[in-house]
Amino acid sequence: PTSSVCVLDSKDAGGSAPCAHSLDSIPGPTNWPLFGSLIEVLRKGGLKRQHEALIDYHKKFGKIFRMKLGSFESVHIGAPGLLEALYRKEGSYPQRLEIKPWKAYRDMRDEAYGLLILEGKDWQRVRSAFQQKLMKPTEVMKLDGKINEVSADLIKRIGRANVNGKINDLYFELNKWSFETICYVLYDKRFGLLQDNVSEEAMNFITSIKTMMSTFGTMMVTPVELHRILNTKTWKDHTAAWDRIFGTAKLYIDKKLTRHSKGKADDFLCDIFHQNHLTKKELYAATTELQVGGVETTANSMCWVIFNLSRNPCAQAKLLKEIQDVVPAGKPPRAEHIKNMPYLKACLKESMRVSPSVPFTSRTLDKDTVLGDYTLPKGTVLMINSQAIGSNEEYFDNGKQFRPERWLEDKGSINPFAHVPFGIGKRMCIGRRLAELQIQLSLCWILRDYEIVATDHEPVDSLHSGTLVPSRELPVAFVPR
Ligand code: HEM
Repeated sequence: PTSSVCVLDSKDAGGSAPCAHSLDSIPGPTNWPLFGSLIEVLRKGGLKRQHEALIDYHKKFGKIFRMKLGSFESVHIGAPGLLEALYRKEGSYPQRLEIKPWKAYRDMRDEAYGLLILEGKDWQRVRSAFQQKLMKPTEVMKLDGKINEVSADLIKRIGRANVNGKINDLYFELNKWSFETICYVLYDKRFGLLQDNVSEEAMNFITSIKTMMSTFGTMMVTPVELHRILNTKTWKDHTAAWDRIFGTAKLYIDKKLTRHSKGKADDFLCDIFHQNHLTKKELYAATTELQVGGVETTANSMCWVIFNLSRNPCAQAKLLKEIQDVVPAGKPPRAEHIKNMPYLKACLKESMRVSPSVPFTSRTLDKDTVLGDYTLPKGTVLMINSQAIGSNEEYFDNGKQFRPERWLEDKGSINPFAHVPFGIGKRMCIGRRLAELQIQLSLCWILRDYEIVATDHEPVDSLHSGTLVPSRELPVAFVPR
């Protein structure tokens, strides 16, 4: 067993404990010179299946293990007790793994950092500027009108794009839906991505984010300085994509600020800007990163919940009944209604457990920390393997089964640290409430008009590409009710 009294002794602020062992004694997979476990991970299906390898390693080595991929060393934790211990020892400014390619671009263009890459006091200042508008339930509820406008477009789009109920490239359509929503919230601007004829500007904006996301992975595992000096294609594509993203974001932020100065009050971004003394540069960077952080993650979670409902018609029927009971026919669903829809919330929770979008997050320890039986030195990179916990039978009976009821039965029996799809502590996802509301409202819209039907029952795997994407076009159809 890898948990111990030290875990329970979670008020311990770090330092050494009598029972704590050193980092070197943590078990883990083969550690070959130069390669570490890289070859083993490649043999297990490669980086696209790294999330599965991590689950296997937890089964083999227990709740904590240590792994090296090339020169990158990390300690993996996959037990609620360890997450709770980490949470209790968290300092004022927790850090994630650095995203060096993003920082390199900002430094080159003299732009600021946003929440995904900021650290220390600056992170805390910008975080608290956005915290109220994004994390306070009553503030987020105010966004339901905007979310509904885009959801109505999604429904029309499904109607138009529907060939025998099948939607061509559903994943991209859902990316357009989440992109349209976040842009409407942030810039008060409709890009019209769900229309048949999408403007060149809108298409460029969404494809730039796609390019930026698909080019930074390589530079996370090879030195970004080298890419910059050699001006590699990856670096050129990455920076050109950021240039376009910043260009468009700045344009619409500036337009908003001008409108606001002419007297339009109660506006998401302008309120944040004026009430928190952010610089314009900080506002540009933080807004851009909210957009980058919010598009694919939300679309991906929506995609998986659609899939899970297609495979579980009983759950779908129960959910439809709840929607019909709570939302008056012919009226749009509102944030207020969601409060009375426990089954809807449970469906989303269960879908994010069975098919998470983000399988892990990270922390770089800013002080020596005792976790479980081990003392981890300052600078250790910790991987918080939320997917491994969510799929562990020890915490979820019949874990592979999609059973929303588990969240409604004997409340309190599921450890809150066993389900952390949005991360933990002060650095947890700031867009969580917005994403949940978006998905919940849009599900109401879809289910009222369509039955989601499985078109085959073959397995759909998930592949790691930043988020966990379906391994093939989703076998679902939308059949009008
Ligand atoms: C951070 C997941 C939606 C913006 C994170 C983290 C996770 C996550 C796992 C890391 C948390 C940690 O390290 O503890 C998700 C999922 C989403 C989602 C699964 C959708 C279902 C959004 C949305 C936005 C957003 C809609 C923007 C409005 C961010 C930002 C951070 C973050 C800015 C960094 C926060 C910080 O470090 O202070 N998200 N996210 N996310 N997310 Fe999300």
